[in-house]
Amino acid sequence: MTGQEAYQRDIVWPANYNEIPKEIFVRQDLYQAEINRIFRGPEWHPVAHESEVPLPGDFKTCNLADVPLLIIRGEDGKVRAFYNACSHRSNQIEVKPSGNRTEFECPYHRWLFNSAGELVGCPNQREFTPGFDKKDYPLAQPRQESLGGLLFVTLSPDTDSLDDFLQEAKTSLMDIMGGDGRLRLIGYHRVRYLTNWKAYSDNDGYHPPLLHQAFTMLNWQGGAGRQYATTGRGHYCIDTELTVPKPTSVIRDTSVIEFRDEGRPKRSSVLALFPMLVASNYLNVISIRFATPVAIDEVEVNYAYFAHQDDDEEMVRHRIRQSSNAIGPSGLISMEDASVFHRVHIGNRTPGKAVFQKGVTDPSRLSFEFRQNDESGNLPHWEYYRAAMGFRRTAA
Ligand code: FES
Ligand SMILES: [Fe+2]
Repeated sequence: MTGQEAYQRDIVWPANYNEIPKEIFVRQDLYQAEINRIFRGPEWHPVAHESEVPLPGDFKTCNLADVPLLIIRGEDGKVRAFYNACSHRSNQIEVKPSGNRTEFECPYHRWLFNSAGELVGCPNQREFTPGFDKKDYPLAQPRQESLGGLLFVTLSPDTDSLDDFLQEAKTSLMDIMGGDGRLRLIGYHRVRYLTNWKAYSDNDGYHPPLLHQAFTMLNWQGGAGRQYATTGRGHYCIDTELTVPKPTSVIRDTSVIEFRDEGRPKRSSVLALFPMLVASNYLNVISIRFATPVAIDEVEVNYAYFAHQDDDEEMVRHRIRQSSNAIGPSGLISMEDASVFHRVHIGNRTPGKAVFQKGVTDPSRLSFEFRQNDESGNLPHWEYYRAAMGFRRTAA
């Protein structure tokens, strides 16, 4: 068979939409193919919200899989994503996670760039090739587009527009970002999970009250809600009417789980964009989780937390307290996820298939509307992944 990758020949993709072969989580050649087809492929990847770099010269660095990026707000107020590599011989330009600089100097031969990425100085220029012009050597930039201040990049020239990529998820994303994206950064949690990136991205609507002990301890029931998936791309969103438990002796500072009215409908929203972004607005926590694979068995997640620019200082303090303690890698109602991500990865070294059940009414068909506590909402995401990686589904 010509043109087929070894992993496509070896791994049998089941006929049923609710079955996933476990080998895909642990096979090294497939991991490399995922980097090429998905992370360097025709997808949009969120890399920063503009509010993370509020002032001219503010920067942050991040990685998109193995590709280093540098995000800078220029003197002109514009936020740009660059490859974090010198235009001379590709030395990594910036190593700090974040900071502020008026100029970015490459230490190797001291080429100097301004905050718009233009080359403004280079030693010994008279001895360079004839006709050398600094204008021809800015820091290179990947394709980029933004929505509500959230900057996305893609490393492929073939990617559709961001609008076409997001589909209906665009409305959910704007809603999560306070309706207008006018956010103010209040902090980060940076964490590495020892799991494959697909297991991290496979968190579902079924598990929260079952895995997370705080829901039981606080006698906290989920409200009515809706879950939908986009018909292409495999994004999905869970919207739940927000119920908040009555104050209880289990928790000393009940403000950690208190909902303060911010003029938004009282509901929690969790949006997962293919391949790895999770954005959520839950209680008063506005969070964007920037995630990337580090290795086949490791992901890095930067949980960024935000207030809204219209918040008063007391609301900002409330959001900081709640963001630190309620949701996130060490949050009261979400901390068990880290353990499960790792244990699922260990379990995935065994043969066979992972089988989705909750909310699956017909395994031979894909649906796009679910109950908020179904796990079947993940299946359109898996179907998009299957096609992106070129697996052929077994005939029924
Ligand atoms: S590699 Fe940056 S100045 Fe030479
Ligand atoms: Fe969870």
